[in-house]
Amino acid sequence: MATEVQVRESLGEILVPGVKRSLAVMNLVRKVVVSDHGVDITLASTALNESARDWIAAKAKTVVGKLTDVDGVDVGFVEAKPGELNQVKNIIAIMSGKGGVGKSLVAGLVAVGLRRQGSEVGILDADITGPSIPKMFGINERPAGSDTGFMPVLSRSGIEVMSINLLLPQEDESVLWRGPLISRAVTQFWQEVLWGKLDYLVVDLPPGTADVPLTVMQTIPVSGIVIVFTPQDLTTMIVKKAIRMAKKMGKPIIGVVENMSYLYVPEIDKRIELFGKGKGREMTQAAGAPLLAQLPIDPELARLCDEGNIERYDSDVLTSLRKALTKALPLTEGKE
Ligand SMILES: Nc1ncnc2c1ncn2[C@@H]1O[C@H](COP(=O)(O)OP(=O)(O)O)[C@@H](O)[C@H]1O
Ligand SMILES: [Mg+2]
Repeated sequence: MATEVQVRESLGEILVPGVKRSLAVMNLVRKVVVSDHGVDITLASTALNESARDWIAAKAKTVVGKLTDVDGVDVGFVEAKPGELNQVKNIIAIMSGKGGVGKSLVAGLVAVGLRRQGSEVGILDADITGPSIPKMFGINERPAGSDTGFMPVLSRSGIEVMSINLLLPQEDESVLWRGPLISRAVTQFWQEVLWGKLDYLVVDLPPGTADVPLTVMQTIPVSGIVIVFTPQDLTTMIVKKAIRMAKKMGKPIIGVVENMSYLYVPEIDKRIELFGKGKGREMTQAAGAPLLAQLPIDPELARLCDEGNIERYDSDVLTSLRKALTKALPLTEGKE
């Protein structure tokens, strides 16, 4: 007779329609009972429509039926809220004092870097006022789902993505929502999206230090914050406010990232500090957290983002950002 472990392993190979990740990582396998009479499998029906459920049940019967000495396979579904199934080890919120400093870009790079080291990664685009994550990843698929929840959309390299842009009828439809509506939408992204088992969930927060990022952080059990800034004076002032807010919320600051630090010109082999001298040390001291990276202005990166190909970006700064981040994380899981 097959063992429970064997049954779970076979089930783990089934890819859930819509998200295209396995039943196991989506945490949909609720119970497996192996007895003399056969195998009884209980799955969660969360975010699955009827045809997806039927397909999974048929597939489960086939793969488990192939195991040695299995006579009968029974597959049943139970309801569960996405929140009950989501198991996320680290939630990293990316924050900035204002828009346009590269917050979304850093959120994207962090996710790409972590995915490249083999971790299970998701991005929750909580910047409902300017959702740019799907564009950077070249995603415009509508999320699958049912009345019990939504599935994220999987990027090319296997990152789970959820954004309001994917749910709106038209991608460029502007969202002019007021604070309470935004926080309700973001709450749903956390509670009604089946993220499954993730090592890291990267949250692209709305810009600023006002109510909106605050409610987001009250809604989602964030592990820590990464603050993005540029070397401009004003930004430093705003970012200091962000740091105060994070401290007030009792959320640790994992580190700070200086974006647009310099432009490298290969012809003359020179770094040009377009926005003045870096503020890395000043910010590190203000935040009481390490400087995770100083990212250059990189035309190649801008181009890849515009094309929806951020996952193709490779550079030493990306590797060092990823390494510095995993080292600085408050939790031990997923560390190198
Ligand atoms: N280091 C960088 N090199 C090249 N382009 C960048 C860099 N940082 C940001 N950009 C570009 O600047 C624009 C704004 O960045 P974005 O991440 O959307 O900012 P934010 O989310 O803070 O509003 C985007 O078009 C992005 O591709
Ligand atoms: Mg943005």
